[in-house]
Amino acid sequence: MPTTIIAVDRDGTRHSLVWDEDQTLMETLRDNDLPVLASCGGTASCATCHVYLEEPVAARLGERSADEAELLADAEGFRECGSRLSCQIGHDAAHDGILVELAPEG
Ligand code: FES
Repeated sequence: MPTTIIAVDRDGTRHSLVWDEDQTLMETLRDNDLPVLASCGGTASCATCHVYLEEPVAARLGERSADEAELLADAEGFRECGSRLSCQIGHDAAHDGILVELAPEG
């Protein structure tokens, strides 16, 4: 059973994407041609993969790492509840159906 997510781009357009088990959320967004720069390649050092998650989903992920929290605190459009680095989110079948919104470019 594939894991499917809804991604909302910066124009508000919704895209239904399949999230493969061996990918991070950032890789899934990027490989589906959504405008996620991911300039650091997923090492939690650029914040260009910043997304918003719905609060229950973000809560399920637990606390941000120190690196993630530090980067996001300075990111454009930071939201205390919901801002995450998509490169730090691994596949989990429990994420089936989640809504992921691209944050503004910094
Ligand atoms: S890709 Fe650089 S912080 Fe996620």
